[in-house]
Amino acid sequence: MKTIPVRVAEVVDETAEVRTLRLVRTDAAPLPEYEAGAHIDVVGPTGMTRQYSLCGRPSDRSALLIAVKREPESRGGSQALHTVSAGDTLEIGQPRNLLTLAPDADRHLLVAAGIGITPLLGMAHELAERDADFELHYFARSREEAAFVDRLESLPEFRSRIHSRFGTPRDELPAVLADLVPELTPHSHLYTCGPEGFMAEVIKAFSPVVGNERVHLERFVAAETDTSGDQPFTVELDTGEVFEIPAERSILGVLAENDIEVFKSCEEGICGSCVSGVLEGTPDHRDQCLSAADRSAGDQMALCVSRALTDRLVIELY
Ligand code: FES
Repeated sequence: MKTIPVRVAEVVDETAEVRTLRLVRTDAAPLPEYEAGAHIDVVGPTGMTRQYSLCGRPSDRSALLIAVKREPESRGGSQALHTVSAGDTLEIGQPRNLLTLAPDADRHLLVAAGIGITPLLGMAHELAERDADFELHYFARSREEAAFVDRLESLPEFRSRIHSRFGTPRDELPAVLADLVPELTPHSHLYTCGPEGFMAEVIKAFSPVVGNERVHLERFVAAETDTSGDQPFTVELDTGEVFEIPAERSILGVLAENDIEVFKSCEEGICGSCVSGVLEGTPDHRDQCLSAADRSAGDQMALCVSRALTDRLVIELY
């Protein structure tokens, strides 16, 4: 991965578990431009790479802002980033978008839970700057655990558009979400990020109203997949090289074994790093990063987890 050297310009404790890092370049070069909803790979102090959403204003070219929640159950990436201080240096990757604002939407409904606020925050900033029609619904266990909420509620451009909900019991969530349905217009798009169970309720409430293609989500955890019926298949690269993918191996694993370099990070179908083009054949999508529209287009796939519904795939590495 070609990385960009950055310095931590500022660390802010947003809650007891969430801190924001403001990142600036260590050289005089400009930071990369990015679209609202983008995320970056961050190589932490221990060398572990993790993905974090960019949660500042996309129009702010002076710094990139990420929010890191300390996850005791994680493999240590977030813990390590909780040890960095202002002045420390890190490496980051180029911004990538798995979640983007729909250009044809006449209204945008952003529904976040917990740390899932981070990708939606950059989108909310962008929509506010465009003076677009949007509402941000932010669910958290308590105000103390809701990162950014005080600041957002104090910003004039957000004041009437942010709706904070604290401590909603799980069994009341469907009714609360159903109350939001009247806010939808015929061309509304909905964006959600949060725990799996939360997003499942959001999908259940809104997909029947606006359609699957207009519900966009960002996931943090890999889905469990039944691999018992997996079959071998053939992958041909656009360079002409041909590889047999055994039932128990991934495309990514076979390519790596043959010294074919593919950009990768999570290897769980979440981050989108290994997404590549599909020129022929039909992918069996098992990732959590491509949108419903990307999947049905069938012209790209995540090589770390997805397989083939046809005997052969022709792939173009990005
Ligand atoms: S490496 Fe993250 S989606 Fe494949």
